[in-house]
Order: sequence, then structure tokens, then C-alpha cells
Amino acid sequence: MGHDPGLLITFEGIEGSGKTTQAQRLYEYLRAKHGDKVIFTYEPGDTEVGRRIREILIDKRYVIDAWTELFLYLADRVAHVEQVIKPALDEGKIVISDRYADSSVAYQGAGGVPIDTIRNFNKVATFGIKPQLTVLLDLPVEEGLTRLGERDRIEAKDVEFHQTVRRYYLELAKSEPDRFVVLDGSKPEDEIFETIVGIVDKLLVNRDAS
Ligand SMILES: Nc1ncnc2c1ncn2[C@@H]1O[C@H](COP(=O)(O)OP(=O)(O)O)[C@@H](O)[C@H]1O
Ligand SMILES: [Mg+2]
Repeated sequence: MGHDPGLLITFEGIEGSGKTTQAQRLYEYLRAKHGDKVIFTYEPGDTEVGRRIREILIDKRYVIDAWTELFLYLADRVAHVEQVIKPALDEGKIVISDRYADSSVAYQGAGGVPIDTIRNFNKVATFGIKPQLTVLLDLPVEEGLTRLGERDRIEAKDVEFHQTVRRYYLELAKSEPDRFVVLDGSKPEDEIFETIVGIVDKLLVNRDAS
């Protein structure tokens, strides 16, 4: 007997939008239903090499231009897809990722790298693996930033940068409405979670029926 096809669900959004909160809650929820068929992962940094890349990326002592940033994230992504995402999907698992390829479009796009260039590199770095569902948590930049504690190198960029990131995310969502669901990240945590559960349950029912 074969197994279910894998499912990749990603969470995207600006700093403090609630990605980690909601991604982990969804993981716990699905884990209770589907056990070890569900994995939680994140970018950057969820491989041995990725952890080292993450340390560089968040280190405030470094000045890193958008192109260097892009290639560091891409290197992390290749390792992530090769070592974590692809093997799990091949086994038919449900993979929940806190950030993925869209983050590069939004952040390095905001940093000045042309969007088409980022998209093309993403295709290479992901081996063409796309999420079936991407939850974009959207909220005003100031609201997200005030939720943060001590800020790392990326989080410490100026408000205008983060506003551009937000705008790029919304454009991405508009360009791929079938993959994206945009939720108001300023709503209460429980309310957002209930919406996500409704969407994911429906997705799983449709998948099992097909
Ligand atoms: N809907 C929400 N309303 C208010 N605070 C929230 C909400 N979701 C998350 N938070 C809080 O905001 C902070 C940032 O959330 P987090 O999930 O880490 O965001 P991200 O991973 O997108 O940066 C955390 O302290 C978290 O508890
Ligand atoms: Mg987070």
C-alpha cells in the first residue's frame, strides 16, 4: 500500500507577526491527530550547516549586503530542502515550516535584489518544491516590532525596510491566491488559530478524498 502524498505548509510574515506561535500550535494540533507523520521545521537554521549560517545572518556585528544575504539564505534553504523537507515529503509527511522561500522574495526584495532573480534562485534552491498552503500573517509593522524583545540584525533594520517587506509579502499573496491565505495577525492568537485549523482541516479532507 502506498502512502499519502506529502504536504508542505509554510508560515510567512514580518517580524513579530505570530509565525512561530501559530506554526507551533498547528504542529501540536496535527501531531495529536497524525502523530509522527507531522514535522515542524524552520528557516534559517534547521540543519547543522544551517545553524552556522543563521548565526552569521543574525549577528549584529556584521554588515551584510542584500546579495550576500540572499546567497546565505539560499545555502541554508538547499540544506533544509535536501536534508529535512524533501525526505519528509517523500515519506508522505506533513511538513510545517516557519518561513520558507517567500521570505527571500520579501526580505531580499526589500533589500534591493530584483524579484525575478530571487524567484529564479529559489526555484533552484528548493528543487521546485512548493508549499500547498502558505499562511501569511499580516499586520502593521509597528505592531509586530513592538512584540519583539531584544532585536537581532534583521529585526533591527529600520521601519521602512519592514514596511517594504510587508508590501512584497502582500504582492506575493495576490500573485498566488490559490496557495496563500492572508490572515490579520493583529487579531487574538486563538481566533487566528481557529481560522488556520479550519483551513488546514479542509485541505486534509480534500487531500484524503482525492
Ligand atoms: N495574535 C497575537 N496577538 C498578540 N500577541 C501575539 C499574537 N501572536 C503572537 N503574539 C506574541 O508576539 C510575539 C511574537 O510572536 P512570534 O510568534 O514569535 O512571531 P514571529 O515568529 O512571526 O516573529 C510573542 O511574544 C507572541 O507571544
Ligand atoms: Mg519566529
